[in-house]
Amino acid sequence: MSGFWNWWIIVLVAGNIAGALWLLLSTTRAKPGDQKAGADTTGHVWDGDLREYNNPLPRWWLWLFYITVAIAVLYLVLYPGFGNFAGTLGWSQTSQWKAQSDDANALAARELGKYAGKSVEELAKDPGAIKVAKNLFANNCAMCHGSDARGAKGFPNLTSPNLSWGRTPEAIVATIGGGRDGVMPAWGAVLGADGVESVANYVMTLSGRAAPQPALTTAGKEKFETVCAACHGPDGKGNPLLGAPNLTDEYWIYGGSLDTIKETVTNGRTNKMPAHLELLGELKVKLLAGYIYSLAPPPPAPATAPAEPAAAAPSSGT
Ligand code: HEC
Ligand code: HEC
Repeated sequence: MSGFWNWWIIVLVAGNIAGALWLLLSTTRAKPGDQKAGADTTGHVWDGDLREYNNPLPRWWLWLFYITVAIAVLYLVLYPGFGNFAGTLGWSQTSQWKAQSDDANALAARELGKYAGKSVEELAKDPGAIKVAKNLFANNCAMCHGSDARGAKGFPNLTSPNLSWGRTPEAIVATIGGGRDGVMPAWGAVLGADGVESVANYVMTLSGRAAPQPALTTAGKEKFETVCAACHGPDGKGNPLLGAPNLTDEYWIYGGSLDTIKETVTNGRTNKMPAHLELLGELKVKLLAGYIYSLAPPPPAPATAPAEPAAAAPSSGT
């Protein structure tokens, strides 16, 4: 507090206490019992003859007031309140908050400590760890991925067995800790409206659906293999090294309708999963990874070598 406000508070507080004392003293000059019948009245008259005596307060009542004044002074000596004076106890809101949050952190560290040595797979099977992780998820992740982790448009559904960045324990830990930048380049200018139309029709068929215009799918497949396969793989199953989603399942980040696919292909998409390692620390990231890992059956071991790490990618996918 600057000098002015310091003195402003001191004057107000001291003035209030002095004022209260003055009021008490000035009303107690007459002693109880001094008042004789017919002596001064307040001048208030009701019903023609009912008057109010100007009697002093009873002694005990008055003493209660003196005691409250004494307590006010004592309080201002012990606790902050009198301008910049910090009080002799050294108490402050900040120090109390710090003591309490230190206690809470120590308790949390003790509670979480029992999960420290476990792997993501073990945590995924541990009901206690899942319970803790669900709370962490509700506080840190649900605003984007939804309280049930099923996501929303633009925010991936984490219960999908095919996560774009991979569903292995290592991949999930890396995603949560380090964050991810998903970049799908815009192809509208390269392919033209017709090209987009045909490739989008072909993409519809990848997830086992009928193309709205089946005649276009042959041309679409050709374009897919020359342009899109570099990232999404020749079969459209995606590439976790680039965060290129699997286009053959029913999970869509943006939507699987023809119009939405056309919009994605024409304009591209960029998306960001923020890094959480600094905010949460290694152990909490691992607990969360255990929870995400538990949401879908573990991925089958890859039958073939992973798709070529997209040397042909036209943009820096990672
Ligand atoms: C500000 C919003 C936001 C928050 C908060 C957030 N995420 Fe994400 N997350 C995203 C977006 C957007 C993506 C998609 C990134 C991309 O498209 O590459 C994503 C991707 C992911 C993925 C990878 C999905 C995939 O398909 O590979 C995982 C796993 C994930 N988030 C987990 C979490 C967890 C756990 C938390 C809480 C610690 C969290 N996220 C908090 C926005 C968020
Ligand atoms: C440079 C690599 C790359 C190329 C080439 C590429 N994509 Fe993508 N694509 C991605 C990435 C990465 C994402 C995820 C973007 C995100 O996370 O926001 C994506 C997302 C998509 C999606 C959205 C999926 C969903 O779940 O909503 C569709 C559809 C898609 N791509 C189709 C195509 C088609 C069709 C082509 C070819 C014309 C193509 N992509 C070419 C990298 C690529």
